[in-house]
Amino acid sequence: MKDEIFIKDAVKSNFFFAIILNICLISSCSTDKIKKENMTQELQEKEEKYRPGLHFTPQKNWMNDPNGLFYLDEEFHLYFQHNPKSNVWGPMHWGHATSKDLINWEEHSIALFPDELGTIFSGSVVVDHKNSSGLGTIDIPPVIAIYTNHNENEQKRGSNLFQTQSIAYSLDKGFTWIKYERNPVISNPGIKNFRDPKVFWMSQEKKWIMTLAAGQETHFYSSSNLIDWKFLSVFGKGIGNHDGVWECPDLFPAIIKESGKTKWVLIVSINPGGPNGGSATQYFVGDFDGKKFIVDSDFKLDLKNNHHFWLDFGKDNYAGVTFSNWKNNDGNPLFLGWMSNWQYANKVPTFKWRSTMTIPRILELFQTETSYILNSKPSIDWESFTNKKIKIQETKIGKSKTLVNNNSINLSSSKVFVEIKNLEKNKYTFILSNQEGDSLLFGYNHRKKSFFIDRSKSGEVDFSDDFSKKPSIASRLKSNNSLMIDFIIDKTSIELFFDSGEIVMSEIFFPNKPFEVLNLVTESSSNSFFSAEILELDPVKNKIIN
Ligand code: FRU
Repeated sequence: MKDEIFIKDAVKSNFFFAIILNICLISSCSTDKIKKENMTQELQEKEEKYRPGLHFTPQKNWMNDPNGLFYLDEEFHLYFQHNPKSNVWGPMHWGHATSKDLINWEEHSIALFPDELGTIFSGSVVVDHKNSSGLGTIDIPPVIAIYTNHNENEQKRGSNLFQTQSIAYSLDKGFTWIKYERNPVISNPGIKNFRDPKVFWMSQEKKWIMTLAAGQETHFYSSSNLIDWKFLSVFGKGIGNHDGVWECPDLFPAIIKESGKTKWVLIVSINPGGPNGGSATQYFVGDFDGKKFIVDSDFKLDLKNNHHFWLDFGKDNYAGVTFSNWKNNDGNPLFLGWMSNWQYANKVPTFKWRSTMTIPRILELFQTETSYILNSKPSIDWESFTNKKIKIQETKIGKSKTLVNNNSINLSSSKVFVEIKNLEKNKYTFILSNQEGDSLLFGYNHRKKSFFIDRSKSGEVDFSDDFSKKPSIASRLKSNNSLMIDFIIDKTSIELFFDSGEIVMSEIFFPNKPFEVLNLVTESSSNSFFSAEILELDPVKNKIIN
């Protein structure tokens, strides 16, 4: 009995305990829920705060290299290295987006999925206008993707043969793809890093040429049908930077406007080994006869000065290549890079999506007195996106000048042109700042003849030691005493084009609030003059509605 009572009492007290526990659980659950909702809202706001408006970002999850860039029927196609299941690098697919104006991008369904040969690493796309591959017809010319299959199982087994080259074709202009049934089209000759095929049609030779990264060199292949490939030659031994693995090469002809002379440019991404640490892209100028690439004797690599032949001296422009089937009126190609760095790409403080592409740039080759130089210029019709414009007439700089004050223009989406005349032995620092005390510093030190970006106080920087350990620098090539700077600010990035794109620096940053103020300060009061034009840009202003 007693026991019975005891049991009953126990049941009773358990019952009360359970009720109280439940109440506690429910209330803690609901506070958890509220906390979670606040968190999600906070995260979402953060995502919005950081997601750029003028640059391509994937809707969700991870992105790295641009792949298969091509132009057809007034549309630019961008495929990209994509992990659709996570915000860090993982099994690679090709994501896909298109744009008519290179600012507004529409993301489409995934173009290429991993298969039994492996995941889908970087590569290129060509339009096979004459149906040389036989995979389409003359009326429906196939669009061909040439990519690397990366076989992780083979790699884990310790084999060196885990990267091979394969193709896929599209009969609807790049929206859906069929893998070629006899892939791979190039097997691995025993080279560990053997990837990133970039293909173009060489009209003089009437054949397709492939440039491929192989260890710390590039290999060239040729083909008449994009299926059967013949090895041609190797380039790279003992030349250029070899501090890392060579990736994503691209070979293209470049016409020097003044002389009408054609030279060949080979760009090669390298990781690590960049001039300011981690990933970067170097270039070489020479001749290509359909078999071999030979560096021009006038192309002088300045190795002591960490050589000048970097496409971009900022930390965030990697694995970029040019669009196929597109050239501007001067015959120059269009380039797009990935705006991140393998040092910290997997850790940058965005969660729903990760990584951004650069602004597309026209590459133009110039011959200087001492060498060659490849200039980059943004390829955007800025006027058509301009909401507001401020012009500042020639003004003496003195100790400091304010270019943009609180909200007079939305600096988070802007393009600025500044000219400084009568440069003195002084340091000219532009400061972007907000009310949270974050600031991004960049500019030019005329005493040291060097450009710089310092993002050490730009907001969230702690996610990686390599992000802002030291300012990024780049030597100036010109020696005249005036300087032109164009820069694009898009919430979380700045792309600086010094001396009309002769030296470029692209970097990302994560301020706690958008930057609202732009000042120009000097080390010691200066008699130099500056003038400026500042455009506030609206990415949807020019949106093309079908
Ligand atoms: C460059 C790279 C390529 C490779 C791809 C893998 O960033 O390493 O060489 O194909 O990324 O995602």
